[in-house]
Amino acid sequence: MLEFSILAILATCIAGMMTRAQSRKRKREALLPVWERENGKNEIEKWLEGFLAKLKRTSTRTEKCRLILAVERMQFEDDWYAAWWKHVRFGEENVKILDTGINVGKKDLQKIKITEFQKELLKSNASLKNQLIGHSEIKEEKGEWQIPAELKTKIISEGGEALIFSEKFGICENAVRVQIFDPFLFSNNFGLNFLTWKINFEKDYEQATNKEQSGKANQMPKYKNIIKNFVNIELFHKKDLKKEDCIGMGHNYGKGWRRFENCFEGRKNWN
Ligand SMILES: *[C@@H]1O[C@H](CO)[C@@H](O)[C@H](O)[C@H]1NC(C)=O
Repeated sequence: MLEFSILAILATCIAGMMTRAQSRKRKREALLPVWERENGKNEIEKWLEGFLAKLKRTSTRTEKCRLILAVERMQFEDDWYAAWWKHVRFGEENVKILDTGINVGKKDLQKIKITEFQKELLKSNASLKNQLIGHSEIKEEKGEWQIPAELKTKIISEGGEALIFSEKFGICENAVRVQIFDPFLFSNNFGLNFLTWKINFEKDYEQATNKEQSGKANQMPKYKNIIKNFVNIELFHKKDLKKEDCIGMGHNYGKGWRRFENCFEGRKNWN
């Protein structure tokens, strides 16, 4: 019997120590910026879902415009093609970019595999398939952001397809920059339900570059001496299973880090 009770006390003692240690750890964690915390990505994700649900905008562009923009986001075998292509034609599996200018030697520039995102666009308007679409047919965007009042007060800068908010993460005041690459993103027909994302912390990039010494490819954009980029969030269409066509970005910058706000003063377009 004696043995038993000693064991019991010991057990509660350890249990008590554990909860105290855990709460100390929680307190320590709460003082850390989100991106330093153990489950930081979950916390960012929780915040992201609420935040994205509030973003709304309109667009005056068409599906044709979206397709042209989606081609502009593609990586061609020769960087020059980005400037040269004048027409594009979507087939079943491939997209062909053409230089239809007069006196051009090479008219068929490249045939590339259609992305999942482009497939989705073609599904919503099949008449765009097998049609010669001109690069210059893209229309001017006259749509606007429609931000709810509670979020509007947090806007630091607004211009074109990018918005910058001031947002608190725990004890840290940060700037969140949102940029859309697909004009329908956050419009009525293309909201949170259609989205998936990749959340990257600055330390992920550091680890990746240390491991591979890959230099450019895997780095987070850094604006030396101005702002520090802590979190990068890439948005994708849910059906883009390989996450190959990023249609929107969120950056989380340190604020107050070298007087962040001054950087944006008088600057409507942060592009
Ligand atoms: C499909 O795209 C064509 C070409 O841009 C356009 O004329 C037509 O109105 C679109 N149809 C629908 C249903 O959006």
